Amino acid sequence: MKKYRWGVLGTGRIARTFSEALKGCEDAELYAAASRTADKAAAFAAEFGFEKSYGSYKELAEDGNVDAVYIATPMSSHYGDALLCIENGRNVLCEKSAALNGEQLEEMLAAAREKGVFFMEAMWMKCRPSYLKALEWLKEGRIGKPRYVKADFCNLVEYDRRDRLFAPECGGGALLDLAVYPLTLAADFLGHEPREIISSAHIGGDGVDLSNSITLRYPDSFAAVNSSFEIPNTNNAVISGDEGLIIFGNWFFCTSEVTLYDRFGKEVERAVIPNEVNGYEYEIREVHRCLAEGLKESALVPHSSTRAVMSIMDKCRRDWGMYYPDERKA
Ligand SMILES: NC(=O)c1ccc[n+]([C@@H]2O[C@H](COP(=O)([O-])OP(=O)(O)OC[C@H]3O[C@@H](n4cnc5c(N)ncnc54)[C@H](OP(=O)(O)O)[C@@H]3O)[C@@H](O)[C@H]2O)c1
Repeated sequence: MKKYRWGVLGTGRIARTFSEALKGCEDAELYAAASRTADKAAAFAAEFGFEKSYGSYKELAEDGNVDAVYIATPMSSHYGDALLCIENGRNVLCEKSAALNGEQLEEMLAAAREKGVFFMEAMWMKCRPSYLKALEWLKEGRIGKPRYVKADFCNLVEYDRRDRLFAPECGGGALLDLAVYPLTLAADFLGHEPREIISSAHIGGDGVDLSNSITLRYPDSFAAVNSSFEIPNTNNAVISGDEGLIIFGNWFFCTSEVTLYDRFGKEVERAVIPNEVNGYEYEIREVHRCLAEGLKESALVPHSSTRAVMSIMDKCRRDWGMYYPDERKA
């Protein structure tokens, strides 16, 4: 069996979860871990069983034995880290949100195209069997014409200026960290190009959004999306059509369960598909499948979807007057 040699770039919270998933995929090899600090890289590599450790991201990017690099750094670093990997010929799975803005994303995609390497946003939700089941129901017409999406992602986090979530220089804010999931869901079920985007945000003292509320209007449907670091919420997702409903329970983007109801609210079908590892194995397998087939883009997480959501988020931030350091105020 071909084993894919993974390099993990960054050693923070999600790098740990992802490395656990790698350990559970028999065709994944934990090859190298890279940190800005050699000691951290070595400790991380030893803990998870990576063969090599690098004290700089550059060394990992330059290692020609790496089949795919997983970028697990703050949003503000994705652009530079992805370009570094792509320019060295590495295939890339880049954490969400893939970039700070559409301009950066286009450069990253153009570089990947030019170098002929694979690039995918690590939108793990889109690779999960429960999510794919819901899309299948939609495609089969089980809910009729989709008319309304309601999806929230609120995650209470204690304010800490040192945390990337609150730091403008790290690309902080609820929009790029949380809303990216419900917006992706809305775009998948209602379309990539809403006719109108109406949003508002509570911008904290450091200049990033702590809460936001977004309405997408399509010709004959709507989406309502909320995300926040400071307001508790149910975090479910409802997709309503004129013939029925699809409901994801709490933490909709990582749930193993999804239910189909008829238009009167009677349960019609329930899919329960437990994780085989921790839920991140599905995006890893999707990368492996694409690499095996020589694909440069995943059909489950296509560039068009990443682009569409980035464009919605750009519009929201423009309307709020919220810009990251060094971002051109176009
Ligand atoms: N898919 C998911 O479920 C999920 C969940 C959480 C987060 N994420 C995404 O994953 C990315 C990382 O999130 P996280 O929560 O893991 O962040 P984190 O715990 O803060 O870790 C980020 C890591 O990036 C590296 N880094 C590089 N430049 C940095 C800088 N200027 N400031 C701080 N760290 C820097 C650090 O590793 P070294 O010191 O080793 O270089 C750090 O440990 C984000 O894009 C986030 O949106 C995804």
